[in-house]
Amino acid sequence: MNNIHQSGRQTTAPGFNIYNQPPDYYDATLSPEYIEQCFMPIRRLIDSLRKPEGVSILDLCCGTGVIPDLIRDLGGVSYLGLDLNPTFLDRARERMAGNEHFTFVEADLLKHQFDRRFDIVMMINGYHHFENHLKSQVVKRVHEMLAPEGSFILYEMCISTYENRDEFAHMVLDFYEKRIEWTRKNEPMTPKKLATWKNVRDLSVAGEDEYKVDYDYIRKDFHANGFALKQEIRVWPPENEDLFDDPRVGDFLFLFE
Ligand SMILES: C[S@@+](CC[C@H](N)C(=O)[O-])C[C@H]1O[C@@H](n2cnc3c(N)ncnc32)[C@H](O)[C@@H]1O
Repeated sequence: MNNIHQSGRQTTAPGFNIYNQPPDYYDATLSPEYIEQCFMPIRRLIDSLRKPEGVSILDLCCGTGVIPDLIRDLGGVSYLGLDLNPTFLDRARERMAGNEHFTFVEADLLKHQFDRRFDIVMMINGYHHFENHLKSQVVKRVHEMLAPEGSFILYEMCISTYENRDEFAHMVLDFYEKRIEWTRKNEPMTPKKLATWKNVRDLSVAGEDEYKVDYDYIRKDFHANGFALKQEIRVWPPENEDLFDDPRVGDFLFLFE
């Protein structure tokens, strides 16, 4: 793994990757403050899409099950979470134990065949886990999994526009420097949380497991693959905080149909 930044600064231990670690590392970033700021809007969006006859939800790249936990009390939900990390799925199943309407499957989303379609498909911080040459394939697969009148919810961290590899690295570093600084100011910082944010930053710069893109890339990819944007919310940074000059930088919640 190349975990040395342009600056030559080595910030996370060689070979350390939070996705190969117990789920506590990943979960360290999903603090109550983060969930309130960034993930509660997902719950509200799902709530607004519910129908009296019930709603089927497919959560692609569901990870450790934080999102199902957030919607466990919404009535009429039948939920299936998919992820390829067995230890993350163990944590998700543990969280949702006893909730028969919440099930999980261990699978690669690019390979798994479903025998049904879903009213809502969502992918929360999952799109950036696919290398850029695979992203359109992911979007096409989402289309196949969605019921005819279905909705797709996408959550993505959008970095600033870049022209080349050096600029890309610079934009990723800028995004995470600000994110870490903001988190320090707004949440209790723990060593594990700091190590995890830094590791995600380093994996993103190195292009290992994390393949971030900018806002325009996402909009174009979904448009080219037949999706229309119905709604978008920039959930981070908060509205009144100008961390970035470009309003297209930050965490976005998109609703596509
Ligand atoms: C950043 S985590 C997001 C987890 C969860 N959605 C959340 O927001 O808390 C990304 C997840 O994508 C999963 N993932 C990556 N590639 C995948 C693939 N090809 N098929 C299924 N899951 C995948 C990883 O295992 C990881 O759990």
